[in-house]
Amino acid sequence: MPVPVLLRQDKHHEPRDLTPSHGTCCGQTDKAMKTASDQQKTNVQRLGEKMALDHGFLGVPTQTFDEGGRRQFAELLREGLSPETSLLEIGCGCLRTAYWLIPFLGERNYCGIEPHRDRVRWGLDLLFDDQVLRQRQPRFDQNAEFDLSVFGKKFDMVLAGSIWTHCSKFHIRTMLEGFLQNSSENAVFLVSYLPARSPEEDYNGTAWVGTSHVSAEPGIVRHSKSWIDTECTSLGLRVDFLDRKAFDGQLWLRVQRASSIGFPGRLQD
Ligand SMILES: C[S@@+](CC[C@H](N)C(=O)[O-])C[C@H]1O[C@@H](n2cnc3c(N)ncnc32)[C@H](O)[C@@H]1O
Repeated sequence: MPVPVLLRQDKHHEPRDLTPSHGTCCGQTDKAMKTASDQQKTNVQRLGEKMALDHGFLGVPTQTFDEGGRRQFAELLREGLSPETSLLEIGCGCLRTAYWLIPFLGERNYCGIEPHRDRVRWGLDLLFDDQVLRQRQPRFDQNAEFDLSVFGKKFDMVLAGSIWTHCSKFHIRTMLEGFLQNSSENAVFLVSYLPARSPEEDYNGTAWVGTSHVSAEPGIVRHSKSWIDTECTSLGLRVDFLDRKAFDGQLWLRVQRASSIGFPGRLQD
């Protein structure tokens, strides 16, 4: 069963602000240079780096903690995301994208699936203000079966960022079927992926490849665009391979029902 977030017990009421202080420092060139480069970092980037220092590898590159989440949020906005959109994030990890989504979306409009419970807890503890969590009431589920029905909701958007780059073809098929059964008529399924550049690169194994609730081994997989296209078509879905870069070297694709009239608010350029 999906659970509403458990608010942390300590008394921090705001996400931690790790902005460096702007004290008058002089004399130490190294220190001054370090401070200058540190000043280029956003607060959420610093928070991501702190999370990685505290807990080790987070499942995503630490150096793109801000950029990776920000780019996913930006692409959803291009697709027409608005506060009324009900959105499911598959494999939400340590919440680098939810950092943007949860405050933006209306009450109960954000749901996340992530079997690695600690990653969600670390993100909730460090990235959010308790009041936002109380107001927005995001919900999370830990199932590892790609069961998208657990929230009992028809979603307008489903996001899988850096998930098809780790999962099997069976998993993809399960997500596509889950999307059909648990989304609204004109819903969008936004996915980042890596295309196979040869038949040998087209992943045909059955296991998740990469870190997860049961694995500490990093890894990446690719899937052929023609296989993805055939799979979508066989389910009455349409796939568009977008020519914009996604994040962390990946590309975007968008899945919709073949009958969709398009998502309201999508930017056309
Ligand atoms: C590469 S990370 C991406 C995290 C997040 N989407 C992001 O971009 O920041 C992949 C995530 O998928 C999670 N995962 C592993 N197996 C899963 C499964 N069966 N269902 C859903 N998520 C899974 C991992 O624990 C990990 O947090």
